[in-house]
Amino acid sequence: MWDYTEKVLEHFYNPLNQGALEDPKEEGIAVVYGEVGSISCGDALRLHLKIEVDSDKILDSRFQTFGCTSAIASSSALTEIVKGLTLDEALNISNKDIAEFLGGLPEAKMHCSVMGQEALEAAIYKYRGIEVEVHEEDEGALVCSCFGISDSKIRRVIIENNLTTAEEVTNYVKAGGGCGSCLVDIEDIIAAVQEEKAAMPSKLAAEIESAQAQGRTLTTVQKINLIQQVLNEEVRPVLIADGGDVELYDVEGDTVKVVLKGACGSCSSSTATLKIAIEARLQERISPNIVVEAV
Ligand code: FES
Repeated sequence: MWDYTEKVLEHFYNPLNQGALEDPKEEGIAVVYGEVGSISCGDALRLHLKIEVDSDKILDSRFQTFGCTSAIASSSALTEIVKGLTLDEALNISNKDIAEFLGGLPEAKMHCSVMGQEALEAAIYKYRGIEVEVHEEDEGALVCSCFGISDSKIRRVIIENNLTTAEEVTNYVKAGGGCGSCLVDIEDIIAAVQEEKAAMPSKLAAEIESAQAQGRTLTTVQKINLIQQVLNEEVRPVLIADGGDVELYDVEGDTVKVVLKGACGSCSSSTATLKIAIEARLQERISPNIVVEAV
């Protein structure tokens, strides 16, 4: 028997916002859904959003899922979390936020919260017309053939959740939970991510945070290093998981110039990628005055 919190059981026994959303009859309202997994095969989630077009606000949300206790509770929680948020705010919801809303999930069930985060992203990107590769079919090399999980998806979940063991990766995305032949590869990816992290100038970041706390101005070199760090740690893993990438080109005052690569460079909605994935994150982490431009 899994050790579920009261809140998980509450959302499982009395799930909120189950079902689909009807096509809107009112002007200025849009309905969209994002899906992960396969509804026809089970272990899948379809998340519906009702959006006020002018304000980008999520007015309502529903879900349909075939899944276990945790999948139902995570989906129910997610529909409550996103209501009233703008789409940009919703894109900042992580699987950890979903788990925390529920007072935690058993480690072996964390993949249910990841499924929620992915369905939310899929719905928002679909609404914005941004091509998003289905994660199972993304351009990363296939690592786990039992569950169709690529290296880019594994890297992303490791970085976003600070995972350090193959067992944890299995809990979050199922990779490694079948025949087990990919466990060695998963351990290699964990080691590579940890090596990259160790090379990050985290001491510098701490110094810069302290400078900001004391109201001191960042030097240009400090600012460039911090921008590079945020791009490497928080932006690039997400873009790489979707077949794209970004490179820092130059920094002039508060204007950050970047080169979009891969799927991001050829995407017709690269402006949205700049604003949603890159500018918003740099503004949040470093300065609200930052403007990002593609060169
Ligand atoms: S290949 Fe990953 S569990 Fe079988």
